[in-house]
Amino acid sequence: MRRAKITGVGHAVPERVITNRDLEKMMDTSNEWIVSRTGIEERHWVTEGEGTSDLAIRASRNALHQAEIDPREIDLVVVGSLTSDYFFPGVGNQLQDKLGLDTVPSFDIKAACSAFIYALSIGDQFIKTGQANTVLVVGAEVQSTALDISTEGRDMSVLFGDGAGAVILQPSNDDTGILSTHLHSEGKYLKELWCEAPASRFNPRLSPEMLAEGRQYPKMNGREVFRNAVTRFPEVIQEALEANHLTLDDISLIIPHQANLRISQMIAKKLGLSMDRLFSNIHKYGNTTGASIPIALSEALTEDRIHSGDNIILAAFGSGFTWASAAIRW
Ligand code: UT7
Repeated sequence: MRRAKITGVGHAVPERVITNRDLEKMMDTSNEWIVSRTGIEERHWVTEGEGTSDLAIRASRNALHQAEIDPREIDLVVVGSLTSDYFFPGVGNQLQDKLGLDTVPSFDIKAACSAFIYALSIGDQFIKTGQANTVLVVGAEVQSTALDISTEGRDMSVLFGDGAGAVILQPSNDDTGILSTHLHSEGKYLKELWCEAPASRFNPRLSPEMLAEGRQYPKMNGREVFRNAVTRFPEVIQEALEANHLTLDDISLIIPHQANLRISQMIAKKLGLSMDRLFSNIHKYGNTTGASIPIALSEALTEDRIHSGDNIILAAFGSGFTWASAAIRW
């Protein structure tokens, strides 16, 4: 069966930078608390009128440029996103239109922080089976417009940022490419990290009473998420290694979802790796949910951290709970 290969990578973030000091002016928090608990120093937030699709199109154009292909070569668009511009349809449809892709199929995957790997896995299957030849896979999010930026919401609002990353998948003609993907979920934990409204369970989906109660804001049991994350990340990385008969010595770089620097440090400790084997850019972007892995991949390439023939592993954990890994030979 043919293998899929990443032939172009790009990312984009909003221009507006929000530092921890800026947050100190909005709520009762401190640069010291945020840096010591999360490693985050600043994040990018959209400005009025800027949506997830705007970031997705910029990231996609960058990936297309790197792959040196015309958008019309794309025959499938898969977007991992929790935060489509509108309740429906999805970002994929907007992207498909903005790229002038005629009637090419496009859709969104809602798998929170694992969504990019889920989307990558779908693109991989389409290439493997020969149903597509050029797939645009995107992770794109605008979380900032959902946050409670008062002191009450500080446990969540200091963590998240906006951004997008994109890759082009095409068939590989050698032994490089996506070696495996492993996807998991455990829906019993859904309320440990969730956003209740607007929702189709309610009529109307969002009422003034719900707004007054703050039910439109994402909520998280941080400790429970942390506890599960530091177990599932190493587990799904090991799963990728075993499936490909590789050991950690064969892996030059692990790109984990950027949720919290302390989670990455814990993963490194559990795997017995030094931190330079795990990519981190959370200090600049915060947690950008489904966008964090492709943004990190894009920066890892720019920083020359990945070379031809290298084996790398992408790994994610997030709301759902969902978790996933992808092993890639570059
Ligand atoms: O993308 C995947 C999803 N997210 C994650 O993976 C996040 C996983 N969880 C975490 O990263 C951590 O649990 C957090 C960073 C969210 C929180 O860190 P923590 O060490 O678990 O802190 P905590 O929630 O136990 O709160 C400790 C204290 C509390 O005060 P008291 O009760 O000890 O007086 C909070 O009220 O810190 C307080 N606190 C803050 N203080 C200043 C919570 N948020 C803030 C804040 N600024 N922004």
